[in-house]
Amino acid sequence: GMMREISGIDEMEAMLKKRMNLQDVVIVPGDSDSTPWVKEELGRACSESMKERLIGKNIIAVTGGTTMAAVAETLTPDFASSELLFVPARGGIGEDVNNQANTICAKMAENTRARHRVLYVPDQVSKEVYKSFLTEPAIKDVLNLISSANMVLHGIGDAITMAERRKTPPETMDEIIESNAVGEAFGYYFNQEGEVVHKVMTIGLQLKDLEKIEHVIAVAGGKSKAKAIQAYLKGAPHASVLITDEGAAKELLKG
Ligand code: F6P
Repeated sequence: GMMREISGIDEMEAMLKKRMNLQDVVIVPGDSDSTPWVKEELGRACSESMKERLIGKNIIAVTGGTTMAAVAETLTPDFASSELLFVPARGGIGEDVNNQANTICAKMAENTRARHRVLYVPDQVSKEVYKSFLTEPAIKDVLNLISSANMVLHGIGDAITMAERRKTPPETMDEIIESNAVGEAFGYYFNQEGEVVHKVMTIGLQLKDLEKIEHVIAVAGGKSKAKAIQAYLKGAPHASVLITDEGAAKELLKG
């Protein structure tokens, strides 16, 4: 529309798309760091992008966080013309219950009158416990669904913010800081070059799995997330769509 042209948003989208080598970029006006309702706009933009990409039967893997929670709020029953199944992308990675992928999937399913599955995995367990988890039929079932997802919706966070929010143990925290991590997505921490410098041990979607998923929609805004977004996009095996805001986009285009 006219406003978008005047404010230069269309142009910024084209520049970001090219520079970051993305399939599509949507920028919403404002900065979600300073204006809370901009996050709702990110949610709405994500919901539009989803609609454009739905097929008859969809398995949609979703991560946690406040941005994904905002996406869930914007979904409506008119999605119901397609068959949808929401699954958490990965097991517990230390989020507060409202921001957990399980909770968000339940909300998405409720708002679209669709189905969802849960993946209950405790946060900090030994390798042995993880291995035995993998043999549980109910868990195997959800893992199979995750690996046949045709769409992934995920957040991106600042590395240190995320490590703190997850109450990461002090030693691991030190490692994350020393490795110069700047961004985080799916439990993977990335440095400025896009290299994975730390990974939260949990089951579910692994970074390399993104390669074979048709639609990967990243939703992250706010000037404070620019470095994180850039790091993730450098490291991601394939990022199709970025939904962001003006605050982050302006900062990304400076670099
Ligand atoms: O913990 C789940 C997660 O999606 C992270 O991978 C990501 O960094 C974070 O949430 C984003 O959270 P928010 O949208 O609240 O910034």
